[in-house]
Amino acid sequence: MDIDKIAVLTSGGDAQGMNTVINILVRIAGLRNIEIYGVKDGYKGLYNDDFVKLDNDMVQNISSLGGTILKTARFDEFKKEDVVIKSAQNLKNRQIDALIVIGGDGSFKGALALSRHGVKIIAIPGTIDNDLRYTSKCLGFDTAVNNACKYIENVKQTMSAMNRGVVFEVMGRYCGDIALYCAVSTACDIIAIPEKPITEEELIEKVNYCVKNKNSAPTIVIAEKMFDVRDIAERLKKKTKVDFRYSIVGYIQRGGQPSVADKALAMEFAVRAMELVEDGIFNRAIGVKNDVVFDDSLENALNAKYNFNYGLLNLFYLLNYKKD
Ligand code: F6P
Repeated sequence: MDIDKIAVLTSGGDAQGMNTVINILVRIAGLRNIEIYGVKDGYKGLYNDDFVKLDNDMVQNISSLGGTILKTARFDEFKKEDVVIKSAQNLKNRQIDALIVIGGDGSFKGALALSRHGVKIIAIPGTIDNDLRYTSKCLGFDTAVNNACKYIENVKQTMSAMNRGVVFEVMGRYCGDIALYCAVSTACDIIAIPEKPITEEELIEKVNYCVKNKNSAPTIVIAEKMFDVRDIAERLKKKTKVDFRYSIVGYIQRGGQPSVADKALAMEFAVRAMELVEDGIFNRAIGVKNDVVFDDSLENALNAKYNFNYGLLNLFYLLNYKKD
């Protein structure tokens, strides 16, 4: 099938590697004589018909930038069918043959809704949370973990110097991947994640265990939404003998230069996306498993089963606690 015009949008929380994808898409489109448009502000811009024509000059030197040059937005209104219909119509009016969506779970749901109104979609996973379960890696996750680990290592040094315990809060929405990889990589002592919730009493027990067996004030990593980090640090301070502080790792996880791993993945995803476009194969989600890039239907991607790395969680416990 002849493809003359395509569009790309980034949606939801930005993720490192989104700009790398945009750069590669534009360069390949240029080589194939395909016009490529960027949609500003994700689905909000699609609804408001806010498009910009992209060319090589506009995407020069963006590959190593965090954020997204197209901007992004949280746009809850996209759950309404009339909003989806108008957005699909905007693409049709502009004679755009296919739309490439880069985002997380909510963005994929939006993409599926558009596909049901005749839009030809290719979806690329981009979210630091790594919570799209059909793929082992989403763009941004590797960079986010690296950024968080650097931050945690720094804070750990000053905490250790003053014999203080510390509770770190990392991002991830309802997914414990960032917390788990950070805890293992920075040799933290205790972890609290949605995949293996822990009560306040268990937390206290573990703190006491660390004080007794490791002779040091413990470092705790919690995934956001598990506890109020400020509150729990205060309570641990009162209920144990450890002088606790808290530290919210925050948006440093989502900003900054993509890691080499994220850039390489972004390039592979973008190349696969353009291959699918040229082959006329649509409504596919691109992913990676065991270092091999693949594509699957959008429905399968959204319905995929949980693939949390329990092996790594077990390793964390093995390294930190004696067997009963
Ligand atoms: O989805 C990425 C993410 O950074 C989550 O980890 C976090 O819960 C959320 O976005 C924060 O979103 P916002 O910046 O819109 O408050």
